[in-house]
Amino acid sequence: MKYKGYAYIYTIGCQMNVYDSEKLAAILNSYGFEKTDDMDKADIVVCNTCSIRHKAEEKAFSFLGRFAKIKKRKPHLITVMAGCVAQQEGEKAFSRIPHLDIVLGTQAFSRFGQAIDAVKSGKQRVVDTKDSRMIYEALPDISDTSFFDENKISRFVTIMQGCDNYCTYCVVPYVRGRERSRSPESIVEEISLLARSGVKEVTLLGQNVNSYGQKEGQISFVQLLTKINKINGIHRIRFATSHPKDLSINLIFAIQELDKVCNHLHLPVQSGSNKILKKMNRGYTREKYIFRIKALKRECPDVALSTDIIVGFPSETREDFNDTMNLLREIQFDSIYAFAYSDRSSAPAAKFSEQIDEKQKRERLNNLLELQEHYTQKKNKELVGKTLEVLVEGKSQKKRDGFEQTLKNLEHRKNLVQMAGRSESNKIVHFPSEHVNIGDIIKIRIENAYPHSLWGHPVGA
Ligand code: 5AD
Ligand code: SF4
Repeated sequence: MKYKGYAYIYTIGCQMNVYDSEKLAAILNSYGFEKTDDMDKADIVVCNTCSIRHKAEEKAFSFLGRFAKIKKRKPHLITVMAGCVAQQEGEKAFSRIPHLDIVLGTQAFSRFGQAIDAVKSGKQRVVDTKDSRMIYEALPDISDTSFFDENKISRFVTIMQGCDNYCTYCVVPYVRGRERSRSPESIVEEISLLARSGVKEVTLLGQNVNSYGQKEGQISFVQLLTKINKINGIHRIRFATSHPKDLSINLIFAIQELDKVCNHLHLPVQSGSNKILKKMNRGYTREKYIFRIKALKRECPDVALSTDIIVGFPSETREDFNDTMNLLREIQFDSIYAFAYSDRSSAPAAKFSEQIDEKQKRERLNNLLELQEHYTQKKNKELVGKTLEVLVEGKSQKKRDGFEQTLKNLEHRKNLVQMAGRSESNKIVHFPSEHVNIGDIIKIRIENAYPHSLWGHPVGA
């Protein structure tokens, strides 16, 4: 059916959810809904939810809870809970949000239209958390980018869903199902469409990209990268997430040899303690992780590294935590994403003994972040004096000291603006310019390092 009205989409969680929300927007668009950033205007509100940690889950309930009042004065408004919390809660979602109309699980997106039709024809409370093998192929393509931010030159593309690793703290295998990969043809087709609409950079998404296609007997992840590397118009390829147990030497060579694949690797270590890694069911030891990082650095000395860390996993002692701190000192990551362990009732670790109290988790998290601040700054400072290729993303929001100085020095250049882009190693770079366009790749000589960004001037300007 075709309808008329506005759709507001609120996305919580990871990059995969951002991609999924774009798919939901495409579906809504094909049903006649126009996307709006003004919640008050909306005729349908979708909350694409995340259940990885308690806080994200609560955010979804509190966002959707607000609509109890709004629906009283606007009864035709359709409210939708989509994604991981929807998959996890199913019918139970209504006990906390009685005014909810649709609960749409992670694998039910292709049936979103049917759910809307059902509500429009008077059905109350539609729940769809059924499994589906075809995840993205069955959805409308996203070549029509008219309802996205037009200036987006960097896009996510999910290449696989679910996870078979069953780390003991993680809900992903339960809310996103077993691991399955999209066909290489559909991925290449989608990226070619994006390239034709002006996209310059893609980030390939999966819970464990290293095992792409293995179950299906398809081409390997490195072969997929090789194919994408040939797509005209795409200048950069990123990917997340790699699993340390499956990081192959071939992938290391691919980072080095394929010109469009960025020299950045996100490799979540989670903990520096072998005891904790075992309890987490990660499938590698601290020593193996370090060995792989060393191999990577030998082949790609300039590679930027980032990781995920969980502190306060059940039974983590001060010593275990110190092992993690020491791992940070030894590897010196460019950046980290650190989290306090959050108990998820569907994950096995919820039943583990020796849970760590919240205050201690906070303390450890702060210690870890403080230590990392030092290495993030150090890594940024090492880039001063170097020239980096930067993909221009837009105007900078925040003026840097260097910009005011440049303006003073070059008063006659009235059109000078401060722009921002990203280096191949994923660092934000600010620079002054009067004539670059979003999507250009330019060389910037780095002059200053800030805690979380760099400043420089275009070479030859
Ligand atoms: N508690 C805290 N952090 C978690 N992560 C996954 N599950 C949990 C949990 N229960 C973190 C991991 C993962 C990242 C996406 O989220 O570090 O790599
Ligand atoms: Fe969760 Fe582990 Fe799978 Fe990552 S690899 S999604 S942490 S189960």
